[in-house]
Amino acid sequence: MKGIILAGGSGTRLYPMTKVVSKQLIPIYDKPMIYYPLSMLLLAGIKDILIITTPSDKDLFETLLGDGSDLGVSFTYKIQDKPRGLADAFIIGADFIGSDSVCLILGDNIFYGQSMTNILYQASQLENGALVFGYPVKNPKDFGVVEFDKDKNVISIEEKPKQPKSKYAVPGLYFYDNKVVDIAKNIKPSKRGEIEITAINNEYLRRGELKVNLLGRGVAWFDTGTPVGLLNAAQYVETVQTRQGLYMSCIEEIAWRKGFIDTKKLMELGKSMKKTDYGKYIIEIAKEACG
Ligand code: G1P
Repeated sequence: MKGIILAGGSGTRLYPMTKVVSKQLIPIYDKPMIYYPLSMLLLAGIKDILIITTPSDKDLFETLLGDGSDLGVSFTYKIQDKPRGLADAFIIGADFIGSDSVCLILGDNIFYGQSMTNILYQASQLENGALVFGYPVKNPKDFGVVEFDKDKNVISIEEKPKQPKSKYAVPGLYFYDNKVVDIAKNIKPSKRGEIEITAINNEYLRRGELKVNLLGRGVAWFDTGTPVGLLNAAQYVETVQTRQGLYMSCIEEIAWRKGFIDTKKLMELGKSMKKTDYGKYIIEIAKEACG
């Protein structure tokens, strides 16, 4: 399975914060936002990852993350010249996807919870159809929303409905078989002029090939679309890390635990950031592993 992180978009809802730098590069507490979705793909065991950026931010992302070899994975970069919609990721990424299945994660979606590792691993085994998630929120109007019949079967997904038919939003984490490329190419733009991911999901639903997994309260999914949302996410990360002494979305640690890099490499990565608690944490893990 291939992975795509969509880190385009103009970020206008966070102006002036995002006027000169991409939203997905601004920090959530102690690391750039993109580390969080990237860590989800790594936890899913996905090693071949396409990062889609705006034209002006591509170099910055490449400077931050390189070609992936430091983490024992591969990063490819492509630009989206205009924010045409989320489904565009599969058109831009068609050659990259080739004949594989694919996981798309939005560069501003942050998840956390013990069950995520297992959820991601199971999802990465997908060979046919589509798998998306449903997560209860207080403001479903702002998202794609799942509609169920009385037997809890999914009957539609609506994009930003004025009158949501449930409280279950669809987070920005999607797993598809290879048909998604052709489906994306045939999606017509919505009223807001975008080719919507929701249209892709509804097409899989129409074909009887959409699975919606409901996530429980044990999983945290953050909205980073507003300054207060960013602050809440940052406070959550700080609280968990300070309490447990375990880091959230430390991509170097995940790459090492997954066996993508060895302890020597982990130590080297930690030492390159030894002035920060983040770097010290990595060095500590590498030392413990050496016994
Ligand atoms: C997008 C999708 C929406 C989804 C959301 C998750 O909305 O269109 O279906 O629920 O991401 O973050 P956007 O944030 O682009 O408005």
